Amino acid sequence: SGGSLTPLDIKARKGGEPLVCLTAYTTPVARMIDADCDVALVGDSVGMVLHGLPSTLGVTMEMMVLHGQAVRRGLSRALMVVDMPFGSYEESPAQALRNAARLMAETGCAAVKLEGGVEMAETIRFLTARGIPVMGHVGLTPQSVNALGGYAVQGKGADGDRVARDAMAIAEAGAFAVVLEKIPDPLARRVTAEIPVPTIGIGASPGCDGQILVVDDMLGLFADFKPKFVKRYAELDAAGREAVAAYAADVRARRFPGPEHLFGLTAPAPEPAPE
Ligand code: KIV
Ligand code: NA
Repeated sequence: SGGSLTPLDIKARKGGEPLVCLTAYTTPVARMIDADCDVALVGDSVGMVLHGLPSTLGVTMEMMVLHGQAVRRGLSRALMVVDMPFGSYEESPAQALRNAARLMAETGCAAVKLEGGVEMAETIRFLTARGIPVMGHVGLTPQSVNALGGYAVQGKGADGDRVARDAMAIAEAGAFAVVLEKIPDPLARRVTAEIPVPTIGIGASPGCDGQILVVDDMLGLFADFKPKFVKRYAELDAAGREAVAAYAADVRARRFPGPEHLFGLTAPAPEPAPE
């Protein structure tokens, strides 16, 4: 469910045609991306992007369920993956299973994503052995922003070995793909060469097995945020502001609504006066 592509299809794309992935949080955006994307991620970035939260730490299971249900209604092809929110899986494999099963049952997603490396390998093994496909996420893991002291590039220099160990540990534990966030290009290429499942980069490398972006970032809709790793393919915030200003001017000048928007006019609208 959640589209016709399955986690096994995604896993089989290791070393093949790059995986195209975007986030989605609503039905219309799910419909917008479905035909072109292999994976639609209901990311916990929804908390910052749509709800105005300062980080992903305040995102709840209820938010992920509600947005997951909305996205599900807009997909027919892409694999839907739902992020497990902060605090919903770290305590124990049993807690993770309970909440992952709830996300799958209530949203119809076919896979979940959770953050973490070596320390989450046991949990990923537990879930995957019990019928829950898991996408991993290492490098910059935004739910650990307080422990990391911010959103800096991870795995620089000798610290690269730590990120590589994390990626290998969760791949060996059964993750069907691994997101690599905000790490140096050479490290992302090394991890992509070393692990047996697809890597999906964000702020990583074109050498990854796929790419993901937050859809509102690449559409230029989330104007507060302009990280180096985002390429803007549209400027929808600017376009929206212009449209709102034009509407405001029309209302104030009584140019809107026009005759074509009205009901019950008894005579055809008069010809506009010549200029
Ligand atoms: O929440 C999110 O949008 C993500 C992607 C950026 C990978 O985790
Ligand atoms: Na996320």
